[in-house]
Amino acid sequence: MKIAILPGDGIGTEIMAEAVRVLEALDLPGMELQDGLVGAAAWRVHGHPLPPETLALMHECDAILFGAVGDPECDALPRHLRPEQAVLGMRKELGLFANLRPAKVFPGLEDRSSLRAEVAGAIDLMIVRELNGDVYFGDKGMRTTAIGEREGYDIMSYSESEVRRIAHVAFRTARGRRGQLCSVDKANVLETSQLWREVMIEVAADYPDVTLDHMYVDNAAMQLVREPGRFDTIVTGNLFGDILSDQASMCVGSIGLLASASLGTQQTASGTKGAYEPIHGSAPDIAGKGLANPVAMILSAAMMLRHSFALETEALRIETAVADALNAGALGGDLGGNMGTRAIGDAVLAALG
Ligand code: IPM
Ligand code: MG
Repeated sequence: MKIAILPGDGIGTEIMAEAVRVLEALDLPGMELQDGLVGAAAWRVHGHPLPPETLALMHECDAILFGAVGDPECDALPRHLRPEQAVLGMRKELGLFANLRPAKVFPGLEDRSSLRAEVAGAIDLMIVRELNGDVYFGDKGMRTTAIGEREGYDIMSYSESEVRRIAHVAFRTARGRRGQLCSVDKANVLETSQLWREVMIEVAADYPDVTLDHMYVDNAAMQLVREPGRFDTIVTGNLFGDILSDQASMCVGSIGLLASASLGTQQTASGTKGAYEPIHGSAPDIAGKGLANPVAMILSAAMMLRHSFALETEALRIETAVADALNAGALGGDLGGNMGTRAIGDAVLAALG
C-alpha cells in the first residue's frame, strides 16, 4: 500500500494533514506514505508544477492522495507552468480517465444546503466525469484573425473509444447503485455530443438492467436544483462534469464536502490505481488560517481505501465517522459553524473511536 501524499497549494497542506491523521489512526498493515511536491509548491522548488521526481513517485505508488493546486502568484506564468497543469498532467500521464464524484446529503445537514431542506434531503447521486479528453485536452492557443484581432481557441472533441470506455464505467457504476444512468450532453448543438449520445446508446445494449436517459446540460443544471433526487448516476464529459459537480456540492451544502476518485485501467494488488482529491480548489483566501473544511479530503482517503485497496470496511468506517461528526455539529464556516480544520479533524478521529 504505497501512497503518494501530495498536499499541493493553499489549503491543501492543512486538509491533507487531517486526512493523514485519519489514515494513520486506522493503523493499516503495510501502509507506506511518501510525500511529494505538486503545483505552485513544486514550481517554487523545481521550476515546474509537475516535476519529474513527483511524476516518478506517482508512477511508483498504488494510489495518490492529492490536495489542491492553484496560487494567484502563478496567474501570470505561461500556461504550461501554472499549478493546474499538475493535476491535468497527472490525470493524462496516468490515464486516469474516469472521475467519480459522489454527492449525497449528510443526515442532519439538510438545512445547510442552498436548496430547501426537503429538496436537498433526497440527494444521493454519483457524477461520472470523463477526465482525459474534451475541450480540456484539445488543441488550444491564441491566434490573430484576418482583421488583426486576437482570438483564443480550444478544440472540443471526443473519439468513439474515449466515450465507450467512460460509458462502461458509468453503466457499471449505475448497476451498483439504483440502475439509472443519465447521460448529460449538448447534442442539440455539438457534434461531440452527438457522437457521445450515439455511443452511450450503443453501449447501453450491454447493460439491459440499467435504464439510460439523456439530458441536455442546460436542463441538467436546472434539474439538479429543481429535483436533485431524480438523479442516480450521471455520466458526462470533462467540462460539463467540472461545472455540474461544483453545482452539486452546494446542493449538498458545501464544496468542502465532496470527494473524488480518478481511475484508469492500471491495477494494484487488490484494486485499481487511482488519484483521490477533493473537488474543490486551493482556496488561497483562507489558506494557512486553519479554517478550511477537511471533510472532502478525508472522504477522498476513504474512496482510496475502497477503490485502490479493496478496504470497504475501513472506507465505510471513515465515512460513518465523518457523517457522525457532522451530525454532532463539527461544522466549519462553510456550513455555518465555527470549527476550524484541526477541530473538525479531531471530531472525525473521536467518532472513529
Ligand atoms: C476540478 C478542478 C480542476 C478541473 C482544475 C483545478 C484544473 O476544477 O478537479 O474540478 O477543472 O478539472
Ligand atoms: Mg472543478
